[in-house]
Amino acid sequence: MDSDRRIASVDEIPDESTFLFTVNETETQEDREAILVHTDGDVAAWLNYCQHYTHIKLDKGSGAPMRDGEVVCANHGAYFDCESGLCTFGPCEGAYLNGLDIAVDDGAVYLTDDDYAFVGAGAPKSDPADLSSKSNMEF
Ligand code: FES
Repeated sequence: MDSDRRIASVDEIPDESTFLFTVNETETQEDREAILVHTDGDVAAWLNYCQHYTHIKLDKGSGAPMRDGEVVCANHGAYFDCESGLCTFGPCEGAYLNGLDIAVDDGAVYLTDDDYAFVGAGAPKSDPADLSSKSNMEF
């Protein structure tokens, strides 16, 4: 497996929550947030956006809530099956989360999806150049 595409060890994924990471979409060159979740004996990866309002993140930086093996959107209570990504309850019932291809090898999770490059764990880092260009301070 390509070490540049190693997302995390399986042990780093919380039992009752999500592991947040960042990918770069090959087609748009945009950073996107994604989550790893335990499924029944395996691991799944989903883009970190609710299907009710796609600007709403499931994991807001400290892990998404989960109940009975489903990721819960904290905004309006939609439930998503960890294994299939299907919304089983809530305003977007019947919709699916967008999945990413991953593989587990020797206790680690690797991104195998050609549509994305792995960027890093956690949310996208803000670009220091962006911050300085928005600053009103002069030196
Ligand atoms: S934004 Fe997720 S359920 Fe409404």
